[in-house]
Amino acid sequence: MKSIELAGPSAEQYRLLVDAITDYGIYMLTPDGLISSWNAGARRFKGYEEHEVLGRHFSIFYTEDDLATGLPNKALRVAASEGRFETQGWRLKKDGSRFWAHAIIDPIRGPDGELRGFAKITRDMTEKHNAELELARSQDMFRRLVLGVTDYALYMISPEGIVTNWNAGAERIKGYAPEEIVGQHFERFYTAEDRAAGAPARALDVARQTGKFEKEGWRVRKDGTRFMAHVVIDAIRDPDGSLLGFAKITRDITERLQAQLELETTREHLLHAQKMEAIGQLTGGVAHDFNNLLMAVLSSLELLRKRLPADPQAMRLLDNARQGAERGAALTRSMLAFARRQEMAIQPVDVASLVRSMQDMLSSSVGTMIAVEIQFPANLPLVLSDPNQLAAAILNLAVNARDAMPGGGTIRITANGEGEFVHLSIADSGEGMDSDVLARAREPFFTTKGVGKGTGLGLSMVHGIAEQSGGRLELRSQPGEGTVAEIWLPVARKEASVVAAAPATVPAKPRQRQLKVLAVDDDYLVLMNTTSMLEDLGHEVVEATSGAEALSRLEEAGFDLIITDHAMPRMTGAQLAELVEEKWPGVPVLVATGYAELPDGAGRRLPKLSKPFSQGQLNDAIWEIVN
Ligand SMILES: Nc1ncnc2c1ncn2[C@@H]1O[C@H](COP(=O)(O)OP(=O)(O)OP(=O)(O)O)[C@@H](O)[C@H]1O
Ligand SMILES: [Mg+2]
Repeated sequence: MKSIELAGPSAEQYRLLVDAITDYGIYMLTPDGLISSWNAGARRFKGYEEHEVLGRHFSIFYTEDDLATGLPNKALRVAASEGRFETQGWRLKKDGSRFWAHAIIDPIRGPDGELRGFAKITRDMTEKHNAELELARSQDMFRRLVLGVTDYALYMISPEGIVTNWNAGAERIKGYAPEEIVGQHFERFYTAEDRAAGAPARALDVARQTGKFEKEGWRVRKDGTRFMAHVVIDAIRDPDGSLLGFAKITRDITERLQAQLELETTREHLLHAQKMEAIGQLTGGVAHDFNNLLMAVLSSLELLRKRLPADPQAMRLLDNARQGAERGAALTRSMLAFARRQEMAIQPVDVASLVRSMQDMLSSSVGTMIAVEIQFPANLPLVLSDPNQLAAAILNLAVNARDAMPGGGTIRITANGEGEFVHLSIADSGEGMDSDVLARAREPFFTTKGVGKGTGLGLSMVHGIAEQSGGRLELRSQPGEGTVAEIWLPVARKEASVVAAAPATVPAKPRQRQLKVLAVDDDYLVLMNTTSMLEDLGHEVVEATSGAEALSRLEEAGFDLIITDHAMPRMTGAQLAELVEEKWPGVPVLVATGYAELPDGAGRRLPKLSKPFSQGQLNDAIWEIVN
């Protein structure tokens, strides 16, 4: 290089300048690499004083690894041949510690081009280097984290909606490998309906305008199956606000959704069961009291009929009253059946022959517009139920079917044995029920048939009878698709079938004797009626309104029979019967009950009389146990 003499700093001034610089190590090497000058910066980074390094080879600053590859000499060769050598790397300080150096080596040549040595400029970049390393490491960790997350699908999409990367969670949830999906439009994860409605573009619009889009909805996996996704889309912008793309986070919440739905249905079932239980208690209680009242009405009417002069008009009125009371008694029985407080004579029943024996009655009940098809498989097992109650239940279901087919149709009655149960099904081709009606159909007094037409007790009663038999009532229906009502009844075990024969009619016994009867009931109205009926039958009656009173009356000898109510405060009829059996073993006790209220053991042993009873039934029951 030509040196042009200008008025400027002298060589001495240059030396002072270089010496003063502390941020750069600036020193010179001989052509062989021996250190020939040293400045303040070099002293600061490397820790050597000038006199310690002058004349030594500059390779003392290099690590063993670099020495092994001959780096120091290579650096000089490159600098000499190419005019410059620049590098970064770890160098050693005097105390053996390392610093990250950025170094430049320039050859120094004389005017003749001959190599005089090298200028070396070194900077300590340790802090910057460490910061860079740290950044790279944390970026790498973050990348691995995102890629490795499997619970969330995390990926980015371009402003146009093209998938640009794909993590493990995305692969797991959506089923695509990265190479299958990167470069594709993200709308393929949406359902066809959502795509047609423009949902993908709308989601990006919302994210673009508000910064964020969040929603739950059905998405489609690679295999075509659907899953319920919770989706968040965030707009990603560079510092000056232009849109780089979107980050998309998707979670599969199908399981959560299912668990939620299951919880809701369980809760609904529980509430429904509780409601039915409460209605049952209420209905049962009302029906029980009603039963007693109707008994009083019916028996009084019966007695009145005997005493009235034979006036046809009076008789017609009396008949009206009796029919009304009997209709009331039938309703009461349905209510008791729903409340599962009906007297049930459970026994093995052949469902097929029961239904066949009802065929004529069913046909006439449903009318000529409706065909009744009965079809049972051979070898249907016997079931456990009360045949009379079961027949009433079947009739009720047939009448419902009729009402659902005002224009005519077909009722199919079939059954199949499945494991522990026989399913007896009564299906119609009628108008069906919507889900609201279906849900409430079994509730007592629920009817869609209008005042005076339906009482809403039909299905309640069927439901109660099925449950009291140890089975249940299932209803399936849809509007316009007809209804299937299925009574599930427990299969009777083999050994039980021998008892299937109906009890032979009891031979008539002499019924002319006058008896001394103790009548016990805490309800005075009922007691008075029983007494009237007994007296009308020619018996002598002593009354008691409690168990205790009855016991004291019994001290007076000569009773042929005790007729007692069961549900009485302090002492029940069954308890009274037990005491009587101990003290007066010869006196029979007849217990009158309105529903299945006797304790199991007592229920089987004690002669019972169902309320409400007519004078004839009372008379039959008396001569059944008195001889
Ligand atoms: N087979 C059926 N098809 C369509 N709806 C039915 C059917 N069975 C019952 N339902 C609906 O369920 C309601 C309740 O039936 P349920 O038998 O308990 O009472 P009801 O028939 O209205 O009156 P009741 O039987 O006391 O005369 C009916 O009013 C009707 O809306
Ligand atoms: Mg009905």
